Amino acid sequence: MTIKQRQILVTSALPYANGAIHLGHMLGYIQTDIWARFQRSQGHECYFAWADDAHGTPVMLSARAEDTTPEELIDRMIEEHKADFRDFGISYDNYSSTHSDYNRQQVEQIYQRLDEGGYIVRRKIKQMYDEEEGMFLPDRFIRGTCPKCGTHDQYGDSCEACGSTYSPTDLLNPRSAVSGSKPVLRESEHYFVRLAEFEQRLKDWMASGALQSEVANKMQEWFTDGLRDWDISRDAPYFGFRIPGTQDKYFYVWVDAPIGYISSFRELCEREGLDFDHWWGVDSEAEVYHFIGKDIVYFHTLFWPAMLMGASFRTPTAVYVHGFLMVNGVKMSKSRGTFIKARTYLNHLNPDYLRYYFAAKLGPGTADIDLNLEDFVQRVNSDVVGKVVNIASRCAGFIQRKFDGRLSKNLPAPELYSSFIKARETIAADFEGRNYQSAIRRIMSLADQANRYIDDEKPWQQIKREDRQEHVQGVCTQGINLFRVLITYLAPVLPFTAQKAAAFLGQDVDDWQALDQPMLDVPVNTFQPLVTRIDPLKIKAMVDDSRESLKLAGSKPGMRVT
Ligand code: MSP
Ligand code: ZN
Repeated sequence: MTIKQRQILVTSALPYANGAIHLGHMLGYIQTDIWARFQRSQGHECYFAWADDAHGTPVMLSARAEDTTPEELIDRMIEEHKADFRDFGISYDNYSSTHSDYNRQQVEQIYQRLDEGGYIVRRKIKQMYDEEEGMFLPDRFIRGTCPKCGTHDQYGDSCEACGSTYSPTDLLNPRSAVSGSKPVLRESEHYFVRLAEFEQRLKDWMASGALQSEVANKMQEWFTDGLRDWDISRDAPYFGFRIPGTQDKYFYVWVDAPIGYISSFRELCEREGLDFDHWWGVDSEAEVYHFIGKDIVYFHTLFWPAMLMGASFRTPTAVYVHGFLMVNGVKMSKSRGTFIKARTYLNHLNPDYLRYYFAAKLGPGTADIDLNLEDFVQRVNSDVVGKVVNIASRCAGFIQRKFDGRLSKNLPAPELYSSFIKARETIAADFEGRNYQSAIRRIMSLADQANRYIDDEKPWQQIKREDRQEHVQGVCTQGINLFRVLITYLAPVLPFTAQKAAAFLGQDVDDWQALDQPMLDVPVNTFQPLVTRIDPLKIKAMVDDSRESLKLAGSKPGMRVT
């Protein structure tokens, strides 16, 4: 059976360049990567392009707190981020920065088209201004008493105690989080995108099946509330791209951030000789998917498609939203040592463990995902090591020692092999639909079957009988072939383990179609342990380290930016 080759571009939400990557970020990035690897394993042309999100007030202030320039900070962070992603096996094709020249040009082009289309309006608004620092304050940088419940030290836009949202001018006793001074109201001209112009087109896009149902419902509420103009400008000082034709106005970071998806892909096109317009033109038949966390839905389902529509680009095929990562049932916490940085994790544990655990927990919806550290150890040890890898290690020794490292000419249980191949379509549908937990469940139940087959055949007993030698070679060949099927299905999830398995098998495991042919009458290589069990002591060390890095971070001058 030949499948029509699809052309697929996937992106993940761009991490801000002012902080380290943590396991919360990795949830979305691993989800995206599994999907991209899965698509490639089906023979599709799939690219993964993204970037660091370099602009905005928090980046500017973080640089200032470190006594450096934003440029120096973002250059350093992008290298750290890329190293984290590489070491977690994130198979991106291009990683750029929203501060690139490509992105500047792309932003200017889109802005110009929006302006020419009559979608931009300019008008004066009043905002909180810090006279000591000489800057307008984003809502998050104003602190004060909640006007609804009276809790002190709340953000300018929402209260963490009672959950109400409000305007910073309603906050009681407001203070600038930058200087501590009392902000004043000051007027300046701002640029807006007239979102309401896009209402019908956004509704059509939503109806095209681009969104999960819970996300579409949320969007419906926004339509009911009415689409207000979107403020896309910020006054200097601001780290970003200046709006053409102005002296001191900059694009709000959320304008150039999603455009970074396009620019990063354009960079890839130039490098690889791909036809950019074929992918991003209005009538493109290629598919574009954005994977994002649930906190940034608004930007991706209203602002972003509206910008694309107004500037004559295609809209995304779908936006896939995932929930937040909890650790041991609660929000990641620095004092508990559960705010774990990607690098801290990598210093202690194999990336495939986390990739497996996230896959085992991820469904197609937006529910939060809990990383329970005890369950993590138990699950990885029993499934990956105890079930899957065990199949190969139970069979490889006999093949090596007794049969010169060579597989038999026939499978003793071909129907068992066929039943493993028959599961391919359902498992593929699970991956396609981001129902990874279901895919994992099916794969593990096949692994149980494979182990039961070996238990029943007892090669360790039969090998003692002269007349059963050939049969034992067959049983072990069968086991190794079943292992090959399973590790091929798991390769998008466990790329490092799959690579080692490929070295053992002497054959790649990245093509699901190749499984039609079992491996027979060929040599395999010496079996090396593919993954070892998680030692719980390493978890403890990682958690201790995460508490430690808080002490170090806490001693630095700077401010809290979320
Ligand atoms: N820079 C923006 C995204 C711009 S996309 C054009 C941003 N950056 S972020 O660093 O705050 O978050 C990046 C991604 O990580 C987002 O999808 C966000 O939802 C996700 N997560 C951040 N913390 C998370 C958890 N604790 N759990 C799961 N995902 C989390 O938003
Ligand atoms: Zn409140």
